[in-house]
Amino acid sequence: MNVLVAGGAGYIGSHTAKRLLESGHTPVIYDNASRGHKIVAGILNVPAVWADLKDRSVLLSALRDYRIDCVMHFAAYTAVGESVEQPLMYYRNNVATTISVLQAMAEAGVRRFVFSSTCATYGDPDQVPITENEKQAPVSPYGRSKLMVEQILKDQAVADPQFKFAALRYFNASGCASDGSLGEDHDPETHLIPVVLQAALGKRAGITVFGTDYPTPDGTNVRDYIHVDDLADAHIAAMGKLDDLGQIFCNLGTGNGFSVKQVIAAAEKVTGKTIPVTYGPRRAGDAITLYADPSRARELLGWQAQHTDPQSIIASAWNWFSRHPDGYARKG
Ligand SMILES: NC(=O)c1ccc[n+]([C@@H]2O[C@H](COP(=O)([O-])OP(=O)(O)OC[C@H]3O[C@@H](n4cnc5c(N)ncnc54)[C@H](O)[C@@H]3O)[C@@H](O)[C@H]2O)c1
Repeated sequence: MNVLVAGGAGYIGSHTAKRLLESGHTPVIYDNASRGHKIVAGILNVPAVWADLKDRSVLLSALRDYRIDCVMHFAAYTAVGESVEQPLMYYRNNVATTISVLQAMAEAGVRRFVFSSTCATYGDPDQVPITENEKQAPVSPYGRSKLMVEQILKDQAVADPQFKFAALRYFNASGCASDGSLGEDHDPETHLIPVVLQAALGKRAGITVFGTDYPTPDGTNVRDYIHVDDLADAHIAAMGKLDDLGQIFCNLGTGNGFSVKQVIAAAEKVTGKTIPVTYGPRRAGDAITLYADPSRARELLGWQAQHTDPQSIIASAWNWFSRHPDGYARKG
């Protein structure tokens, strides 16, 4: 299929564009490069449109010129803390922009949509592992922006029964392309694994662990780390099921939870370096334990994560970070 990868210059979008290519599809990156890296289009040798998704005429032309069959929509602002400080910016870019995309798709007659949702739509779940039947009660503007889009998608599917969509609720995306060609480069970086690896590289003094008195085996938060290549494959599987299933809501995780301390220990093993750690108080808004029940994705998509232990995920990330200590900007 011809797939418009909206947000394809970013972390998960670029890895998905790569997997699309490898599985015989034709990806076209569409990105305003506000938080992504134009260089990835060159690395992948795929066409790219450098524009904002709110630019309706450019988007319409891209949908028509490239005869797009499906839009995968990764483009969003993604930092929970920033969303608390700048909610309007988040609702505008994550909700209003998505509405623009859906309007352009309707006008161009494109009716397949795969959406990057998040486990943050569950907020503090009543139980783990988290199934898709868990109540959705996000605790940040970021999480609420994603839940709003899920609702908009359901409404659009009522208005246009030919509109098919998947809302994929990712847990913690991590790792880098297994061949070392693509990586993770956010500024500022807020995700645990890259932050730990930057500390291992001496690019930051160390890391702060927020809270050591949580009711978990070692007192630190527990999360489900899902390899970015596994996420990419789930998108391709979901796209292949859209015509049959119509609407898909799936958690994408491994089903395993690992604590912050376990991740740091695994990173020390992989890198052979000691990571300087400072222990601080709990951070407001951090859920204690989040990990997925991935059975629905297995049943509906025939997909399951291939990387299930933090060490192999961190090894793939270290392969990229150790060669790109300054991210895409400069190779080491
Ligand atoms: N990284 C995670 O762990 C995680 C977890 C759950 C959900 N998600 C979701 O997955 C998606 C991708 O996350 P990521 O980590 O790859 O983010 P990212 O910031 O690396 O990529 C997002 C890309 O979208 C582009 N973009 C943003 N607004 C745009 C606009 N208006 N027009 C055109 N391009 C625009 C940015 O330039 C960037 O290249 C996001 O929607 C995010 O909410 C990520």
